[in-house]
Amino acid sequence: MKTANIIFGSTTGNTETVAEMIANNMDGYDVKLVYVTDATNDTVKDADLILYGCSTWGYGELQDDFIPYYNNMSNKLLSGKNVAVFGCGDKENFEDVFCEAVEMLKRKAEGCGATIVNDGLKVDCEPSDNEDAIIAFAKSL
Ligand SMILES: Cc1cc2nc3c(=O)[nH]c(=O)nc-3n(C[C@H](O)[C@H](O)[C@H](O)COP(=O)(O)O)c2cc1C
Repeated sequence: MKTANIIFGSTTGNTETVAEMIANNMDGYDVKLVYVTDATNDTVKDADLILYGCSTWGYGELQDDFIPYYNNMSNKLLSGKNVAVFGCGDKENFEDVFCEAVEMLKRKAEGCGATIVNDGLKVDCEPSDNEDAIIAFAKSL
């Protein structure tokens, strides 16, 4: 079976909930959830597909725990890897930078030679209000 590792950062637990929902709905993959501060190079090397999950904080910024990881993303780590990205945000209050972390991670991974396999999933507010979109994203991978 193919393997997918979900590397995520979450402050209030929303992106963690989404990560779990994705893991429970991916067909054909052995899926592992790894909190971003526990991720190592092997977390990426060992998987056929990497999912990055990161909420957006400040004004269009990465979730705090993700920042050191983001700064260490490199060609050596990601070249040739298949990557998809998701994250939580708030469209009403942060329309101009809604889920900007998803775009930042897509750009960064692509710049490091990864193949972005999906446009990405942006979850507005409560994961439970976005169940259909989250399941559709998981099934599309
Ligand atoms: C101080 C603060 C700043 C935020 N900044 C943004 C932002 O720039 N863009 C956005 O889409 N959402 C923003 N949000 C909304 C969070 O991303 C949202 O609450 C998300 O569900 C948190 O996910 P997490 O629990 O996985 O960290 C912000 C929320 C707070 C409280």
